Amino acid sequence: MTMSNTTIPLTLSPVRPQITIPEDLLRPAADGSRTLADTYGRVARDLRVSLTDRCNLRCTYCMPAEGLDWLPKDKVLTDEEITRLITLGVEKLGIRQVRFTGGEPLMRRSLEKIIAHTKSLKTDEGQAPQTAITTNGLGLAKRAQKLADAGLDRVNISLDTIDKKAYAKLTRRDRLDDVIDAIETSLEVGLQPVKINAVIMPGFNDQDIVKLARFCLEKGTQLRFIEQMPLGPPSQWDRSEMVTAEDILDELRTQFELTPVDKPRGSSPAALWKADDGHGLRGEIGVIASVTHSFCGDCDRTRLTADGAIRNCLFASADQEFSVRDKLRDGSSDDEIATVWAAAMWAKLPGHAINDPGFLQPDRPMAAIGG
Ligand code: 5AD
Ligand code: SF4
Repeated sequence: MTMSNTTIPLTLSPVRPQITIPEDLLRPAADGSRTLADTYGRVARDLRVSLTDRCNLRCTYCMPAEGLDWLPKDKVLTDEEITRLITLGVEKLGIRQVRFTGGEPLMRRSLEKIIAHTKSLKTDEGQAPQTAITTNGLGLAKRAQKLADAGLDRVNISLDTIDKKAYAKLTRRDRLDDVIDAIETSLEVGLQPVKINAVIMPGFNDQDIVKLARFCLEKGTQLRFIEQMPLGPPSQWDRSEMVTAEDILDELRTQFELTPVDKPRGSSPAALWKADDGHGLRGEIGVIASVTHSFCGDCDRTRLTADGAIRNCLFASADQEFSVRDKLRDGSSDDEIATVWAAAMWAKLPGHAINDPGFLQPDRPMAAIGG
């Protein structure tokens, strides 16, 4: 895209009254397409759609025991509004992969329908977009086949420990068996690769790192350890106590030989390691150093919250959030909505700076943003 030098101030949201963007960004190509580019040369191709802020677990790093003030129903996008935005993203804005998150995306009964619609679209490369969900796995065993039939390609299942007591303490629900069932069924129905997300919290599951790694390697799933980020109750995150990627690797090295996987990471945040326990157990393990080594420079994500806000970053503050819900409801055209989306991405900052002393937590908790 060639950018003209003329810039136009555009009114987008009450908290960020104006953003100045190049005139060309407001004008789509002849076929109505645009690119979700930002001022740092990044282009968004990966859309994360939060389908609900609700969840049936209460992971300590994510929510308080009593849950959150859930969004009222009329503020949550309808299936039609969501599919309209996904269609716009894929057909006109260069989106090639759609990941459904929450809260817990399985709590949305129409998930299969939304996936089937997404899979019926064509990207700018002429193929159906890749589809994935990030789920806690509860109830997935029952729906895995239906989801696969609807066109779901891959699943990321959250599992932070395979110790039953530690799982119940960390998630505040005794549901470990359901998650293991979900992992096995996902593998059986071919939702591959099955990736496991594990957030390590000091005092909760830092003792279980090796056991979890063994379990995942034995099952043939791809484990990704994630540094805990300050996205839940503020009392649950302390930079000085945080278990870092280096701590996780040190713990793994007590039982595995680790060698770095020699392939380009692209926009994937995980550093991959080949793990070998010397007794026949081998496989890949990823570590996502979301705090200590941010990967914002390669970010290709754009996010849609359950209540219809475009966010250009997981850590965006209120003035970096652009609601399109009213536009969906006031008869605005696709092109008007695409303009807001493109402008929202243009405003994307270079990175999240969690490691900086002046870092401020985003105003929304993770469950209300979508992981
Ligand atoms: N830090 C890191 N990861 C988190 N997740 C949820 N909250 C946090 C946090 N504070 C992860 C979950 C899930 C995905 C949605 O995001 O483990 O896999
Ligand atoms: Fe639910 Fe995911 Fe938050 Fe856990 S991390 S409470 S599974 S939304």
